[in-house]
Amino acid sequence: MEHLSVLKNDVQKYLNLKGGEVVVDATLGLGGHSKDILKSIGEDGRLIAFEQDERNLEEAKKRLESYKKQIDYIYDNFRHLKSRITSRGVDAILFDLGLSSPHVDDASRGFSFSKEGPLDMRFNSQGELTAEKVINTYSEEELIKIFFEYGEEKMSRKVAREICSRRSDKKFSTTTEFADFLEAILPRKRSKRASKTHPATKIFQALRIEVNDELNALKEALEQSIEVMKVGGRVVVISYHSLEDRIVKKFFKELEKPPATKEQSIYQTFGDPIVKKLTKKPVIPTDQEIEENPRSRSAKLRAYEKLRNA
Ligand SMILES: C[S@@+](CC[C@H](N)C(=O)[O-])C[C@H]1O[C@@H](n2cnc3c(N)ncnc32)[C@H](O)[C@@H]1O
Repeated sequence: MEHLSVLKNDVQKYLNLKGGEVVVDATLGLGGHSKDILKSIGEDGRLIAFEQDERNLEEAKKRLESYKKQIDYIYDNFRHLKSRITSRGVDAILFDLGLSSPHVDDASRGFSFSKEGPLDMRFNSQGELTAEKVINTYSEEELIKIFFEYGEEKMSRKVAREICSRRSDKKFSTTTEFADFLEAILPRKRSKRASKTHPATKIFQALRIEVNDELNALKEALEQSIEVMKVGGRVVVISYHSLEDRIVKKFFKELEKPPATKEQSIYQTFGDPIVKKLTKKPVIPTDQEIEENPRSRSAKLRAYEKLRNA
């Protein structure tokens, strides 16, 4: 399935770009949002594009060939934002988190429970941790923790116990084998809405987050994004599940209303507001967008403007 960029018009509205600006696309993907950014900033503008998946990066380079003089490509995790960019005068930053369509569509990447593939789930093929390693080598306690924290799976204990018991006979090796195993031990929910969700969904989400250390990377990158941005700069974040969205909301809440003293602060920010919220409520896709692109259904966009340096 072709990757369709999510909330295209809203992203551009809240980035609110002008000609000549410096913009970071922290999640280049196949370059859909970047193309719109490049059009808005024009020939005098600069796009700094991060992507940790080499295949997506190469595909985006092809698609953005005619803009190549305006782009610095950075093949890295956005958690290294601050150390990888020299400009401390960034006008806008976009995070469009999570997976792109090629990740789900290509069975060999191991993200999909409906297509047979290796239990991989790495965004970056140079990463050392795979889902297979997690499932076959983590202790029962470690498995419970990640299923509970990253999957919010109520049956974490049962799943971890069953995995440990089964792997002592035979290790898990493919996505479909593991998904069938989960289906057999987890009940399908009775409500109409929940019954559409495969019982493996939450466990697969937890594994993906663990393999790519996604939530820690996001926390680190958000802190750095504020440091590298100019006063007046805008940051736009699209998240796709509640764990990501909670991190975004909590981080910016403290910057909107910093505590009075440094001692009370989580992010070393205190005193006057450091950001202003641009989206009163998170922006979500219209019914029409969800129909055209079902993968957009869980998207939430939040945008903020930097008011002062910390
Ligand atoms: C939802 S897609 C982005 C789609 C893109 N905005 C577009 O319009 O084509 C997310 C992309 O971000 C990349 N990604 C996810 N986490 C990342 C991270 N921590 N650092 C760098 N890239 C990341 C993924 O590999 C994926 O290609």
